[in-house]
Amino acid sequence: MPYPQFPKGFLFGTASAAFQIEGSPAADGKGPSIWDTFTSAPGRIKGGDTAVTACDTYLHPEGDVQRMAELGLNAYRFSVAWSRVMPEGRGPVNQKGLDYYRRLVDTLLARGIAPFITLYHWDMPQALEDLCGGFAGRDCASYFADYAGAVVKALGDRAKNWMTLNEPWEHAAFGHLLGSHAPGRHNPWTYFRVAHHELLGHGLALERIHSISPDSRVGLVLSLTPIFPATSRPRDVHAAHVADQFFNDFYLDGIFKGRYPDPLWRQARLAHPRIGPEDMKIISRPMDFLGVNYYSREFARSAWYVPFLGTWVDEVEVHGKEAIVNGRQYTSSGREVYPPAFYDLLMRLKNEYGNPPMYITENGASFTDTVENGKVHDPLRVAFLEGYMGEAAHAARDGANLKGYFIWSLTDNFEWSLGYSARFGLVHVNFSTQERVVKDSGYWVKALVENQRP
Ligand code: FCB
Repeated sequence: MPYPQFPKGFLFGTASAAFQIEGSPAADGKGPSIWDTFTSAPGRIKGGDTAVTACDTYLHPEGDVQRMAELGLNAYRFSVAWSRVMPEGRGPVNQKGLDYYRRLVDTLLARGIAPFITLYHWDMPQALEDLCGGFAGRDCASYFADYAGAVVKALGDRAKNWMTLNEPWEHAAFGHLLGSHAPGRHNPWTYFRVAHHELLGHGLALERIHSISPDSRVGLVLSLTPIFPATSRPRDVHAAHVADQFFNDFYLDGIFKGRYPDPLWRQARLAHPRIGPEDMKIISRPMDFLGVNYYSREFARSAWYVPFLGTWVDEVEVHGKEAIVNGRQYTSSGREVYPPAFYDLLMRLKNEYGNPPMYITENGASFTDTVENGKVHDPLRVAFLEGYMGEAAHAARDGANLKGYFIWSLTDNFEWSLGYSARFGLVHVNFSTQERVVKDSGYWVKALVENQRP
């Protein structure tokens, strides 16, 4: 199959998050985060795994940067751990924490790899969780902007691409509503409060970063999940529409239109947070790009028992080995492989949201990979990337303003509540020895980059 072709100057990279790879949770004055707390409680994480070592990149970042260069990648998305830089979440800065990221940025730049830095990838400082419930507290939005400012002051002379938050829906829903992620709360009354405060934090940080480093480009990363009705019954079609607003339009409309969408917003009126008079203006301040994380679609059906939403989203869970169910391929973490919705999503962003500059800030798949004779053959991941990157290239040809593509992830890593059981890497990691083996998919990406038309 020919390699998908992307526009000139396109960036190719991988994405990661501090908590999933760094390890060393207490090194050099780092304060605890909610994920340190969450993973140390029994029964939270599959297999009882913790991220105390993870991929050990806090102690040994260079090897993986070298691997990126060998694969021909020219950009890297990673996140800063808030509590390395501000152990208490606010107040004094921990210089040693900043120094680590400064060295990492320098190592990347020396190899011609552009740093794309996420400021919040879910690892809220535990001190702020204790103080105000993390983003459940309105003050957290300002603390976040202060922290963002401190990082950009330190690194903004050399790093020019910033992402404020990663996937605010996931953090609010998994962390505060469903409880499967840190801080492990189940509170339908705070979900919208957390979501609104996250967006407020995004807007305040955006302004702060631009004022400190006017030539920086700043974006927000959303996980966008197209929702399909489970049947053609009108009430399921309506349920899919509301679910789509819950997952996607709430954030997109907030950011690009300065309002939250109806009927969702009307239905959720009992759970509305306080919205200050300037909030929506702050939230919808123009940003420089949108980060799109795309993994799969979901199906919705109407359900009277779901408070506010009246919509139930089916997540087909296929545990164990990746499987084909009803002709559909699923990954080892139970996500359907469905590339066509990716094209539609990108065209929707082009047509309905003003075609902002866009980066695919995450896309990838977990499969059960094994090393045999020093090699990892992962044909399902190669097929996944061919499908998804093919659809993205198609959308770019049809005018979607796509600038780069970050595959999740360079290495297998700590996959939140799934621990080390879900392997997403282009590079296999033996978590007992930290040994790395480039998978066939890694070599496929190298060839894809080499085979771009000039
Ligand atoms: C995304 C997260 C990322 C990683 C991938 C597989 O939702 O942003 O950290 O876990 O899923």
